[in-house]
Amino acid sequence: MIFSDELRKRTAFAEEVLRKYLPQDVSYADRVLEASAYSLTAGGKRLRPVLMKEAYNMYGGGEEYIEPFMAAIEYIHNYSLVHDDLPAMDNDLLRRGKETTHVVFGDGMATLAGDCLLNLSFETALKAFDLIPEGISTEERQSVTLRIIKALKILFDKAGINGMLGGQSADVDSEKRGLPIDEKKLMFIHEKKTAALIEAAFMTGAVLAGAEERDVSLMESLGSDIGIAFQIKDDMLDVIGDEKKLGKHVGSDAENDKVTYVTMYGLERSEADQRRLSGSAIEKLDSAGKECPFLRELLLSLVNRQA
Ligand code: IPE
Ligand code: IPE
Ligand code: MG
Ligand code: MG
Ligand code: MG
Repeated sequence: MIFSDELRKRTAFAEEVLRKYLPQDVSYADRVLEASAYSLTAGGKRLRPVLMKEAYNMYGGGEEYIEPFMAAIEYIHNYSLVHDDLPAMDNDLLRRGKETTHVVFGDGMATLAGDCLLNLSFETALKAFDLIPEGISTEERQSVTLRIIKALKILFDKAGINGMLGGQSADVDSEKRGLPIDEKKLMFIHEKKTAALIEAAFMTGAVLAGAEERDVSLMESLGSDIGIAFQIKDDMLDVIGDEKKLGKHVGSDAENDKVTYVTMYGLERSEADQRRLSGSAIEKLDSAGKECPFLRELLLSLVNRQA
């Protein structure tokens, strides 16, 4: 297996899927669609849909039910980025190597583009029901229907106030009102704003493939480790990253006087902690007893990512 080739293939597949579900003819609403597509097609690692598909394959998933969910999670992630960059939030001008959505389309349209992507995630994920084939038995139909409902519940729970949105809220509220952030709150923010959607990727993939409860919990715990490590690394890259590779401005957190993992613990401990968490995730993956060399390699590669 050549990891970089496999990664390229999988990223391209995620890309194809998320473009497929974008609306076509929207008449006078075309500007918001343009703004949504601008941010969505600007690049990005497509990590969440790729992870979701890997978890799905790992637990023996074979049908297309996963595809609307792959698109939906990237739409949610994307909306969170468009809103995160707004002047009223992190006030960032560069994302994925391009001017941020509000710079090109204005704050109002960027707000609506975020809303549009969030709503599109509902519309798209629900399309999984349309993919249930006609000819299957009643029992199988019931089982697939339940899996889709369970996956919907996980995805939108992890995106909401108990997940990403909740984390973003605690983050923005602390920054804008200058509230103190202690270790517990910082961990809450990292877990919610970033790990929750990564947990959702692993969990929905597993659920749609019909994995057992025990395995879904394992995926949640693995996703939590990877997600927290991912945000620690993001905080580090905001200090020591290369703007060209990162596609975002370095130093954004410092400009906003943000409390991050790096300001709380320093670079050395941040590095050690993200490696420790990644190691813990790999152990959990191995304990699942599945053959998934690409996923293993992908998780390992995140520790050294430059973007
Ligand atoms: C950036 O996410 C925001 C965080 C949650 C840290 P990614 O690093 O996955 O961004 P893209 O999708 O590749 O642009
Ligand atoms: C945001 O964290 C995570 C989101 C849910 C968007 P950051 O604000 O650190 O993400 P970047 O660095 O702008 O991508
Ligand atoms: Mg932010
Ligand atoms: Mg930001
Ligand atoms: Mg950041």
